[in-house]
Amino acid sequence: MALSHTNTPEIIPDHGMLDSGTLINLADQYKTPLYVYDGDQILENFKAFQKAVSNLESKVHFAVKANSSVAILSLLSTAGAGADIVSGGELQRALNANINPDKIIFSGVGKTDNELLLAMHHGVGQINIESGAELDRIAALAASNNFECSIALRINVDVDPGSHEKISTGQNSTKFGIALTNGQAESYYERISSYPNLTPSGLAVHIGSQLTNLAPFETAYNELVGFAEHLRGKGFAVPYLDLGGGFGIDYEGITHPDFTKYGKMVERIFKNKGFKLGFEPGRSIVGNCGNLVTKVIYVKQGIDKRFVIIDAAMNDLIRPTLYDAFHRIDSLTERGGDTGNADIVGPICETGDYLARNRHMPFVEAGDYLAVRSVGAYGAVMMSNYNTRPEASEVLCYEGMVHLIRPRRTIEDLIKMEINPFL
Ligand code: LLP
Repeated sequence: MALSHTNTPEIIPDHGMLDSGTLINLADQYKTPLYVYDGDQILENFKAFQKAVSNLESKVHFAVKANSSVAILSLLSTAGAGADIVSGGELQRALNANINPDKIIFSGVGKTDNELLLAMHHGVGQINIESGAELDRIAALAASNNFECSIALRINVDVDPGSHEKISTGQNSTKFGIALTNGQAESYYERISSYPNLTPSGLAVHIGSQLTNLAPFETAYNELVGFAEHLRGKGFAVPYLDLGGGFGIDYEGITHPDFTKYGKMVERIFKNKGFKLGFEPGRSIVGNCGNLVTKVIYVKQGIDKRFVIIDAAMNDLIRPTLYDAFHRIDSLTERGGDTGNADIVGPICETGDYLARNRHMPFVEAGDYLAVRSVGAYGAVMMSNYNTRPEASEVLCYEGMVHLIRPRRTIEDLIKMEINPFL
């Protein structure tokens, strides 16, 4: 079964509330490259997710890694969002955004002592552990610091999510989760209860990201519920099941996510089984709510192709380079005619620095603004300063107001943290 999306074709070409004129004005004011988010759409997506799973006892923890802007986290917290975090830094952001620690789940394969201590100090709701070594380490830290903590086991159900290899986490060949097949998961669950400061709170699963089909979710959730019931049969308490994130979006930019079928599938599997459920959606909440506005610097005619050279680059949006990801790119200035097929490339000195290849583009000239669509998730969070380029600034539009939520740093800002022992 494929994922469904509500068809709202009117968002083309103006992408929701953020029409071309608005984006051009913002680009003039804040300069490019510039991330512009639609806060109203973010809340709408979040509430739609909540609604889709509201027939079950459930909590929705936004996956902070998708977009960790404190302004956006704050906005989501007004709708009751908890947070799924994977580092001490993300914990700090969630707390800054006033998300109650009790609604925070700490995931990840390599949490350090400092991060675990910080999480326990703030009393996060649940820590998902991914190895026996991590379990023993948390137990030791909790005991020596007198912390108490709820622990869930992230299990590996060995399911191929059918997504890009680099964002697939469900198979045994990946570093994620604890295998079900060799008895490890069961023995670790038992071991949690043997530690006086730890309480077993349940199980977690997350098989990958940008899933465009419900079938792998369904297989994984059936495995999860089967194992949870097996543990219960052995007398263990398994109050809580964390179903992870992964719901994919339409990168053609035509439709918004529709979680209804997903919610129904979850209901079919978990209804009346007596589990509380948690969800960790990231991309599907913010992905289609962001534009990266960029300016054309030059149009260059090569031997056998054209290059549209823009002021955004792989340091601003690495997804095309890293995952061959497709993002729609629209010109915000209508000129008529076309450029033909072109590579849309940034100024960085690498052939891998492109936002699109062989893309049919309308006629564009130096100085025109383009909007790279659906960059609200895993866009700004993955920026770097490669080639000593300051990160793009970020603007949030919400209820008719424009908020600059992250100004661009200066080159001076970038250099000042360095120490030169020779001057
Ligand atoms: N929970 C866990 C444990 C995760 O590892 C992830 C994503 C999520 C939830 C949220 O998944 P979502 O709903 O956003 O699919 N940088 C990549 C995506 C990496 C996803 C990592 N984990 C990209 O740009 O596609």
